[in-house]
Amino acid sequence: MAGEQPTEPGAGTGYDPIESASVDELRALQLERLAWSLRHAYDNVAHYRSAFDAAGVAPDDVTDLDGLAGLPFLTKAALRDNYPFGMFAVPRTEISRLHASSGTTGKPTVVGYTRDDLEVWAKLMARSIFAAGGRPGDIAHVAYGYGLFTGGLGAHYGAEELGCTVVPASGGQTEKQVTLIRDFEPRIILVTPSYCLNLIDEMERQGMDPVTCSLEVGIFGAEPWTDGLRNEIEARLGIDAVDIYGLSEVMGPGVAQECAETKDGPTVWEDHFYPEIVDPETGRSLPDGEFGELVFTSLTKQALPVIRYRTRDLTRLLPGTARPMRRIERISGRSDDMLIIRGVNVFPSQIEAEVLKVEGLSPHFHIEVGRSGNMKTLSLRVEADPANTRPAADLAADVAHHVKGNVGVSVAVEVTEPGSLPRSEGKAQRVTHAPDPGGEQRP
Ligand code: DLL
Repeated sequence: MAGEQPTEPGAGTGYDPIESASVDELRALQLERLAWSLRHAYDNVAHYRSAFDAAGVAPDDVTDLDGLAGLPFLTKAALRDNYPFGMFAVPRTEISRLHASSGTTGKPTVVGYTRDDLEVWAKLMARSIFAAGGRPGDIAHVAYGYGLFTGGLGAHYGAEELGCTVVPASGGQTEKQVTLIRDFEPRIILVTPSYCLNLIDEMERQGMDPVTCSLEVGIFGAEPWTDGLRNEIEARLGIDAVDIYGLSEVMGPGVAQECAETKDGPTVWEDHFYPEIVDPETGRSLPDGEFGELVFTSLTKQALPVIRYRTRDLTRLLPGTARPMRRIERISGRSDDMLIIRGVNVFPSQIEAEVLKVEGLSPHFHIEVGRSGNMKTLSLRVEADPANTRPAADLAADVAHHVKGNVGVSVAVEVTEPGSLPRSEGKAQRVTHAPDPGGEQRP
């Protein structure tokens, strides 16, 4: 579907002609594709047929986009129950590739792609990299993990599709990655923000000034991160850092991409994925602009159509800016990662935002949820910045003060030596839960 590529960044059009279609043209295309997708799912996947039948709805009942709200949701539990291939809408022999997302418990969720699905994915990733500021001919260093995780291969084929020279570094071997960056001089890096911090620290350890390295564009996602971390990474690495969003069940990276010219939240590639926001408690549809759980319906997927998939990601839909397609606000967290501390909802990303406000602290932190009697408690370990000269007790008091004032919870803070906390090589593990004598471990 990719058309003539504008060579000028920020020319207002993007990689594909559809990126400049009017909202009316887009809605018409979505409706046409939705009709196909619903029929495809219903006719070929037993789960959808029985779920629709049980709800007394049929694909043809949906005559406009709002009609989607009358269809049942798809949850991760249904994907697990149909492990491994029960949700596929094409014969197994038409599946070209499998990926899987490792759940926190039990079996992974398996996702499959036909050849056409892989082509769409590569094109959407190419579109995403272009929107981020990448151009054909650039060297792209891919430090998302390769394997069952969709990050590495998704980024890889997209960068190739765009016409980049791809360095398939994957995650890990941090020292070697820095050597590769120094020697190959990539312009683009695709990596989780937490692993990028690790790479920056390693550059400094090797005596290199990260700001002088060849990188100009960073495409960061797969985990929540904040504008504070964006500023930190941009300043230390001298790049433009943009947000990429995606999830295996819906495709992988490239479901939505933040545009370099506005940096105001990822644009949803709405010609392939129809977004909704629902109340996470009641499932009721919410209007654009209201905060809730993101739900996606795939419009073109062949192997694994998803109809009203509950992502558990919390955000809101915003009007288009750099493109007519709608944006999502930066994901603040997942409903299942939300901590409830003495009645206050807390996301690890809120803690990150407060840590980054304190001069003398690094962005490396770890949260532990403990218990005191029946009450949950929060403790935070955060590393001092190597250049810090302030007393650790002052830094700790500052963070505790900010967290109390802005997040609304008390936190016991320990400031640790630079380099003392475990480093991420992919998605950071920000939270551990102290064992609970009563057996219940999660909120
Ligand atoms: O993380 C796909 C991906 C790879 C996206 C590389 C971006 C870059 P999963 O492993 O299935 O897929 O995890 C999906 O990660 O539901 C969110 O909770 C979280 N997530 C992904 N991107 C972002 C982001 C990949 N930009 C889950 N901001 C999603 C916040 C994100 N959270």
